[in-house]
Amino acid sequence: GAQTNVMKLDFEKSNQVIDKNIYGQFAEHLGRCIYDGIWVGPGSDIPNVNGYRKDVLEALKALKVPVLRWPGGCFADTYQWKHGVGPVNERPKIENIWWGGTVEDNSFGTHEFLNLCEILGADAYVSINVGSATVYDMIEWIEYMTSDSDVEMANWRRRNGREEPWDIKFVGVGNESWGCGGDMTPEHYADLLRQYSIFAKMYGKEKFQRVGCGANSFDLNWTDVVMNKAWRHMDALSVHYYTIATGNFDDKRSATNFGEDLYIGGLYHGRRMEDLISQHTAVMDKYDPEKTLPLLVDEWGIWTDVEPGTEPGHLFQQNSMRDALIAVNTFDIFHRHADRVKMANIAQMVNVLQAMILTKGDQMILTPTYHAFKMYSVHQNATYIPVSIISEDYKVGDMSIAAVSGTASQKDGKVNVSLSNVNPRKSIKVTIDLGTGAVKKVNEGTILAAKAFNSINTFEKPNEIAPKSFNDFKLAKNTLEVTLPPLSIVNLELQ
Ligand code: AHR
Repeated sequence: GAQTNVMKLDFEKSNQVIDKNIYGQFAEHLGRCIYDGIWVGPGSDIPNVNGYRKDVLEALKALKVPVLRWPGGCFADTYQWKHGVGPVNERPKIENIWWGGTVEDNSFGTHEFLNLCEILGADAYVSINVGSATVYDMIEWIEYMTSDSDVEMANWRRRNGREEPWDIKFVGVGNESWGCGGDMTPEHYADLLRQYSIFAKMYGKEKFQRVGCGANSFDLNWTDVVMNKAWRHMDALSVHYYTIATGNFDDKRSATNFGEDLYIGGLYHGRRMEDLISQHTAVMDKYDPEKTLPLLVDEWGIWTDVEPGTEPGHLFQQNSMRDALIAVNTFDIFHRHADRVKMANIAQMVNVLQAMILTKGDQMILTPTYHAFKMYSVHQNATYIPVSIISEDYKVGDMSIAAVSGTASQKDGKVNVSLSNVNPRKSIKVTIDLGTGAVKKVNEGTILAAKAFNSINTFEKPNEIAPKSFNDFKLAKNTLEVTLPPLSIVNLELQ
């Protein structure tokens, strides 16, 4: 017979805050993320505010970006920060060896980044160069950004137009040090982490958290060695995990032209985030059972082939309904691990990989992932309500996943319940058991849905996938019945 799909909210066990930074972003000097995507310069014909694109700024403000990681990525470990400050026409040009050999003119540097964080109200997360610079380069950068004393670096900042120090919340000690960041063994990296960390702490005066470079997806040995040798020498540890629809990094496939096998493949590999976090957490628990050290997933998202005809090194990919579903499924997972996971940074904010925003000349479109992030932003800094879900399966060939995923949180007397249905052919009725939650009414329902799993927004049709108001629900005494259309993400605000 027809299976019942049930979501049960456990208000009694609701006590863990969902850190707003789980909704964080990442912007690297890569392809058209910074240049074209965020920064066009004050002399551009494209409408801008002091060089930042006006359309993109407004879209990002509406998204409530909580934290922004910069300047990389791989780029961070070849970055010379001194090239990016002072008069723009005197800044040296360099080759971006990681990303297509593009010439980097350094017109976007420390001031441009930290001022952007201030405009967006986002925490600044600066990733420093451990792979090819020195401890002293880091010390001087920290002084430049954060010192209010009468010292050379702070005075140089003042001469460059910024009197007050900036507020830096996170400093990343290297990026992918096991790979592009220096090809290091975990033993070697752990020693470097201790060395960089002690000086970062001295000069940073505990103003920011030091983030240790974490593992490449399921490399548990990296986490084990770095925890063992250095866990008291950092304030958080990171990990990177990318979703590949085939599960094979060397066979990524198209972002738009795919069948149901790679639709479910993308969802399946995206949901491996659950195991990834559980496994790294178990290793961290060996050293830190009190869970004092946060795990930050500071790069994640789906990685596909680039759009045909674009530079392979620029990682420009389209973004479909599949990707929006991967995003919310991943947030459901992050929320379940909110006691350990305190930040996540999707790769990347504009025009690169699973982007929020795509630009073309003076045009801009918001991707399905943007809308998913915006709908879920209600959960930022809210208190998680544990949920248990009984769901029917969604099957393709020999792959099978739960069709329904979801999450819930409460804040300021309001409860937000988010649900998604990945089945492309079938509406699913879900009974939400509100338990002891005293819910009187549904304030608002919002839905993001698509006709096909590979539906996209284009510059010609920018609103194919956009949130709409939703009212296919029925509130009875302590239960809420919701009918989720195929390929949909729904949020209900209850009171
Ligand atoms: O986000 C693209 C790249 O992926 C980053 O530069 C690197 O850290 C990772 O391998």
